[in-house]
Amino acid sequence: MKQYKRTLVTSALPYANGPVHIGHLAGVYVPADIYSRYLRLKGKDVLFVGGSDEHGVPVTIRARQEGCTPQDVVDRYHNIIKKSFEEFGISFDVYSRTTSKTHHQFASDFFKKLYDEGKFVEIESEQYYDEQAGEFLTDRNIRGECPRCHAQEAYGDQCEKCGSTLSPDELINPYNAITGNALVKKSTKHWYLPLDKYQPWLEEWILNEHKEWRPNVYGQCKSWLDGGLRPRAVTRDLNWGIPVPVEGAEGKVLYVWFDAPIGYISNTKELCENQPEKYGDWKQWWQDDDTRLIHFIGKDNIVFHCIVFPSMLKAHGDFVLPDNVPSNEFLNLEGNKISTSKNYAVWLNEYLEEMPGKQDVLRYVLTANAPETRDNDFTWKDYQARNNNELVAIYGNFVNRALQLTKKYYQSIVPALGELTAHDKETIDEFKDVKQKVESLLDQFKFRDAQKEAMNLARIGNKYIADEEPWKLIKTDPERVKTIIYISLQLTANLAIALEPFLPFSSKKLRDMLNMDSFLWEQLGSMEILAVGKQLGEPQLLFEKIEDDVIQFQMDKLAATVAANAAKAAKAEPIKPVISFDDFEKLDIRVGTVLECERVPKMKKLLRFLIDDGLQKRTIVSGIAQWYEPEQLKGKQVLFVANLAPREFKNGLVSEGMILSAQDWDGSIHVTGLEDTVKAGSQVC
Ligand code: MF3
Ligand code: ZN
Repeated sequence: MKQYKRTLVTSALPYANGPVHIGHLAGVYVPADIYSRYLRLKGKDVLFVGGSDEHGVPVTIRARQEGCTPQDVVDRYHNIIKKSFEEFGISFDVYSRTTSKTHHQFASDFFKKLYDEGKFVEIESEQYYDEQAGEFLTDRNIRGECPRCHAQEAYGDQCEKCGSTLSPDELINPYNAITGNALVKKSTKHWYLPLDKYQPWLEEWILNEHKEWRPNVYGQCKSWLDGGLRPRAVTRDLNWGIPVPVEGAEGKVLYVWFDAPIGYISNTKELCENQPEKYGDWKQWWQDDDTRLIHFIGKDNIVFHCIVFPSMLKAHGDFVLPDNVPSNEFLNLEGNKISTSKNYAVWLNEYLEEMPGKQDVLRYVLTANAPETRDNDFTWKDYQARNNNELVAIYGNFVNRALQLTKKYYQSIVPALGELTAHDKETIDEFKDVKQKVESLLDQFKFRDAQKEAMNLARIGNKYIADEEPWKLIKTDPERVKTIIYISLQLTANLAIALEPFLPFSSKKLRDMLNMDSFLWEQLGSMEILAVGKQLGEPQLLFEKIEDDVIQFQMDKLAATVAANAAKAAKAEPIKPVISFDDFEKLDIRVGTVLECERVPKMKKLLRFLIDDGLQKRTIVSGIAQWYEPEQLKGKQVLFVANLAPREFKNGLVSEGMILSAQDWDGSIHVTGLEDTVKAGSQVC
């Protein structure tokens, strides 16, 4: 395998049209951060590049919704996102934005070079146009009837009801999703990157030379290639983005997926130009064959990073190509798809406020459940269990025991190592293996298994202390205890190193407790990290138990979002056909007083009422037991249809009328009542 001089790690630039959520963190930023931290710890030359993706239609949609400018939107969210990443310890060397001057210039020049060299094809085509608004519409902004399932509000690129992928041309009666205006076809010119020309090269480069890519990534590339590539437009009719630097292209901008990945390069350039002493020349990172480029992305980004961007880089000719593109599948939340537009997510900024100081817990859980090979589910119960049963009970517990015992027996000074028993040797051998195992897993981007292996050190440690029982030996064989504690302490130091890429905050805390000044990946497995006689700091708990009420709060919050969405999505029923006044007059609606109300045995849905109707008592049976306790209705006055033909239920019960109630959009039933009390039997008209 080729030995590279440096590694350039990129993570997908999140759209600055909303905050980031746990799905982003799990899929892209935590793995990219683990990898970068790991390489840094190994003393490798690494650059970890991030930034916000600030162009594109979603930003303009958000701006219209919020009644502000696109720039306002991206300013707000860029800052929120950047801060969330910082607080989660995502250790970017640079986190810039695609609205920066450097980026606009760089992306514009990139396009211009390809344009001048004739790398694009110009294609004139008919696109949907809103004459009133005077604008061409992007697929996402066009809605209409789905040609497959006939849902009314399918998008120009997809029907959310039946899941079909669509093109705007297929929609029946297309209209502007924002203004509602009907659309006409109008001709417009765009520049296309002829991906078909790159197909043979891509086939060789991916399918032959990168068989080691994750199966999900390789498989997706293969199916794109098997389907045959077509030219892709790299410009759009839009007023938000980087203007197309060609005469006669007014009102056109670079397609967001053309400019955004170039952001990886321009952000590097910005960093290097600001701090050349520290980071050197940006060209070294992007144009030297000794650079290994790794893109961390989510699965919806695969085609852009494996096919489109590499073709752009190839067309340009000056840049290195990705060596690997570790892409994750999606993370679900409590069994449902995470959705920004439906506000169904755990937002990082909210998590940080509601769960202060628990960054590592989330990092841990997201890595433990990382959607590396298939979609995975985040649940708050699992979050709680992993915190309480793993972080607290295994990692935290072991460290605390080792440090507390050292404090109690040796005033927190590292004791000398005595003669080793067979059990000591076994334990030491076991954790010597961990370094090699974790390394090999990380080198293969298997973060989930790598974290498990690293945590194994704590398991080994816990078992070791439990087996040795130093608290008993201290009375009978105090010399022996020194050795046990010595080994346990070296193990905690190993943990601080091994878990640093995964749980940087806890590692820092642990290193402070251990007064560890140097810490290098190379030390992993060593029994001599903490010198005999070294003074350790005050032990503190690394993790704390999370109680049920904290978890319930989070679950309730999600449930409230689901309920609010259901209410929003529901609509009033259409009005029934018109009836005559005579028809209406046939109905005898009256006020009745509820004398008795009780559940009906074996009929879960039914309540049996005894009603005073002013003339006599009558029985009415109503299917509303799910919504009321009988006591709530006793003594109340209700409206009922008095002249409805009696109806017999399965169990022989006869209902003489019907109590009126309203069914809310969420399906809940609400019995109608009166503001004032009136005589039973009063007629409603
Ligand atoms: N903003 C895109 C998304 O969230 C990712 C852009 S990655 C880059 O899906 F390559 F374009 F930068
Ligand atoms: Zn459909």
